[in-house]
Amino acid sequence: MKLGVCYYPEHWPEADWADDARRMRSLGLSMVRIGEFAWSRIEPAPGGFDWGWLDRAIKVLGDAGLGVVMCTPTATPPKWLVDLKPDILPCDEHGRPRRFGSRRHYCFSSRTYRAESRRITEAVAGRYGEHPAVIMWQTDNEYGHHGSDESFSADAVSAFRNWLAARYGSVAALNAAWGTVFWSQEYADFSEVDPPQATVTEANPSHRLDWRRFCSDQMCDFNREQVDIIRRLSPNRPVTHNFIGDYTRLDHRKMGRDLDYASWDSYPIGLLSEGSAPKEEKLRRLRYGDPDFAAFNHDVFRACAPKWGIMEQQPGPVNWAGYNAAPAPGAVRLWSWEAFAHGADFVSYFRWRQASFAQEQMHAGLLANDRAPQPVCDEIRQVTDELGGIPEIRKDQSRIGLLIDYPSLWQLEIQPQGNRQGPLWPARTCYKACRMLGQTIDILFPDQEFEGYHLILVPALTVLTEALADKLARSGALILATPLTGARDESGRTAAPLPPGPLANLTGTRVLSFESLPKEAAFAVQTADSKLTGHIWKERIETIAEVRGWFEDRAPAYSVSGNFHYLAFWLDEDSWIALLRQIFESLGIDHVETGPDLRLVKAGQMMFAFNYGPDTEDLGARGIGPEDETWIIGAQCLPAAGVAVWTISGP
Ligand code: GAL
Repeated sequence: MKLGVCYYPEHWPEADWADDARRMRSLGLSMVRIGEFAWSRIEPAPGGFDWGWLDRAIKVLGDAGLGVVMCTPTATPPKWLVDLKPDILPCDEHGRPRRFGSRRHYCFSSRTYRAESRRITEAVAGRYGEHPAVIMWQTDNEYGHHGSDESFSADAVSAFRNWLAARYGSVAALNAAWGTVFWSQEYADFSEVDPPQATVTEANPSHRLDWRRFCSDQMCDFNREQVDIIRRLSPNRPVTHNFIGDYTRLDHRKMGRDLDYASWDSYPIGLLSEGSAPKEEKLRRLRYGDPDFAAFNHDVFRACAPKWGIMEQQPGPVNWAGYNAAPAPGAVRLWSWEAFAHGADFVSYFRWRQASFAQEQMHAGLLANDRAPQPVCDEIRQVTDELGGIPEIRKDQSRIGLLIDYPSLWQLEIQPQGNRQGPLWPARTCYKACRMLGQTIDILFPDQEFEGYHLILVPALTVLTEALADKLARSGALILATPLTGARDESGRTAAPLPPGPLANLTGTRVLSFESLPKEAAFAVQTADSKLTGHIWKERIETIAEVRGWFEDRAPAYSVSGNFHYLAFWLDEDSWIALLRQIFESLGIDHVETGPDLRLVKAGQMMFAFNYGPDTEDLGARGIGPEDETWIIGAQCLPAAGVAVWTISGP
């Protein structure tokens, strides 16, 4: 478990580097990420490399005892390259180039840029691949950010057509899969098919679903080309990419197959203020972030590659959200520990020193503009000290799995059916309810193993194949599926003859109709021993399974067939907790109510508690804490942004 920082030697006088490195070490940092935006300094003119400054920077950092995470600089092609080869630019949906002057100004499908990306990766990995100070590689920076996953350039159009031809074989198959007879959209040849762009009203959803797949695949292919070169030139150094939190346009699991580490950039306050949480919630969480935001992303990225870490951790106010509050004292320490509790190998802060120039002047660093340490440095030093006193953190398989996959998230984004809170909202709601019952959750993807789980939640997994249904059946877990699960086939067409498609036999249930409702239009569902409240989604089902819940008109709302539980409605937060509590009890899963702010994470024989709220939490009052009163970190009273860790016995 390591701490690190993101550093830009090219931004600062060379005279400062050694002192910066020394101060990093004195905070307990042992890794430093560099170079992801430095192309214009590495190659100031075509083919004219200037390695001198970078050689010296790596030496200074390495000599100080820091391990360098070296990046490929492809997120920012320099001006001369754009001018020389303008076809590297991405195009907007009207086919107009997006211009130079910020970052991510390249098209993943540009054949010219692919060659340039390989060329600069060869150059950088060739020079530093075996450098003793280089401990890891990061490819590019945040693939897809700023809408850069999509480009409608000539190269992208032709690559999309080839991709479709490979997927469908014949244009007749494409027409059938997309249902192009609707609104006279039929094609006679693949060469007629454009990306879904600048249409008068909504484009064909199957077309859009394939476009999402294609764009994600282009990013994976681009990344793989760099990874292959790095592996050849820098043997035995792990490779990572820094993914974006809550981002769904890239199939992280697919890209993760080519990586050793999935890392992600965690900005809990920035993303809370940009997100869709209610106003009161945003105010309460203003300085702490949503208690489940970072945790959820930790578990997503943990599932994407053999190892994972935080490449950029928010250290103070950011510059890019609608408003940018400072974290509460202790919050950066809490976020760091939440990551380690989920098994992170490293947490690296963004950035070392606040810049007095260019786009991110208002973004905090660990040092202020004048190099004075910010108070957050004390929190980091505390984490360093605490890391020294804690046993290794081991992540065992959890008892609860939560299944997501990117095609379903894309399908939900394309046809949200009343879901105004983004495609991750169903998964997040279930995740939060489990956390509010003190659980530790594994995020699962369809290609993972499902054995050993007691419960697998399947929230609105719309694109569900027969193979996945079989795998769920074989898992032996209780499967809890919600509305829209199994509603679509892989092309995005409604499952035949009726949803939940491949789950119809396993659930003994067929969905006759579906409606979406405003959040406020709540309705009651009666079970044998409780009254639940539903909202947002409601289905009319026909079932031969046991009915365990009824709508007010006595229509079935909740069916159970063997291990398969099917919910024909979406529950409000309290009802999710009530239902899950019943299910946990039936499965013998011990649980504890955490309330809104407290969260627990189990890691091997250690338990972590985090207080995301402004009030002190008394763990003892909730019956939580070590039996022998011995705490590894913290104590029974958890102050605002407090962290406690103790050893547990038993499973
Ligand atoms: C990230 C990005 C960094 C920096 C940071 C600011 O998305 O990777 O380069 O811009 O945001 O919060």
